Amino acid sequence: MATCSAPGKVFLFGEHAVVFGKPGIAMGIKPRVFVTVRRGKNPPRVNSPYIENCFEQTGVNGSAYIHSQLPSSSGLGSSAAVTVATLSAINEEYNLGMDRSHIASTAFKIEKKVQRGRASPTDTFVSTYGGLVLVKDNKRRILPPENLSLVIGNTMVSHKTAELVGMVGEFRRSNPHVVDPILDAIEAVTIRSLHNFHNQKTLGRYMDVNHALLEALGVGHPMLTRLVTAARTSGAYGAKMTGAGGGGCMIALCPKRSKSRIAKAIEAAEGRAIITSIDTDGVRTEDDS
Ligand code: MEV
Repeated sequence: MATCSAPGKVFLFGEHAVVFGKPGIAMGIKPRVFVTVRRGKNPPRVNSPYIENCFEQTGVNGSAYIHSQLPSSSGLGSSAAVTVATLSAINEEYNLGMDRSHIASTAFKIEKKVQRGRASPTDTFVSTYGGLVLVKDNKRRILPPENLSLVIGNTMVSHKTAELVGMVGEFRRSNPHVVDPILDAIEAVTIRSLHNFHNQKTLGRYMDVNHALLEALGVGHPMLTRLVTAARTSGAYGAKMTGAGGGGCMIALCPKRSKSRIAKAIEAAEGRAIITSIDTDGVRTEDDS
């Protein structure tokens, strides 16, 4: 038996724009998914296509048990975390010798297959390596970690990433002169934020701007507006939706001492709050004893 766990992710800046080759910044976050794999002769009897595909791709049989701290379908990369943790646990249990890069690329392949062509290579990368990750020229690179205090607000409104990405693509095809400057502005905010990680007030201001630009792309939602407003008015440096939008989650950058006040304000606005910070471990093996 082997247990591995993998973190979730948030986009700090640049979601949607990355789909068009612009830069983005994502971060591994503390809530994790834990997967225990046991050997077995029979094919796995699980009702997760991600887990089924992990066994199929690696050519072994066994069963898997998931324990998740991450809400699903909320933009926090829970399916990537399940896939990465399962592959890693299979790797441990069967001594397959896969390194992290092999796990990340296989997990992306599985996500693409299960999600019928549209998957985020950022989700599987961040879940495998953790840390702060810069997406640039469609490649991903780990940046020095930053100690940001974040509160996540889950709207509990489920969303479909593929539909939202398709919608933005369609908006751009039909209105390039309107959409391209918005994507350029998101790029500018992302690049400037890289120089302002130590100036959290400015970083928060950039988050507010990025949120407004995402709304301009059409991926806002009234519940996101409500939670973002609640976070800002209760003392956050800044707040924005994270991930595909249209529901899902928002993040607030908070002064350390105000995290619980901001979390309470998000809950009072009918969101589910998670107080979090950076995860720098990525996928890891847990002690089963
Ligand atoms: C979804 O978490 C982020 C998007 O930018 C899609 C992607 O990066 O693949 C909307």
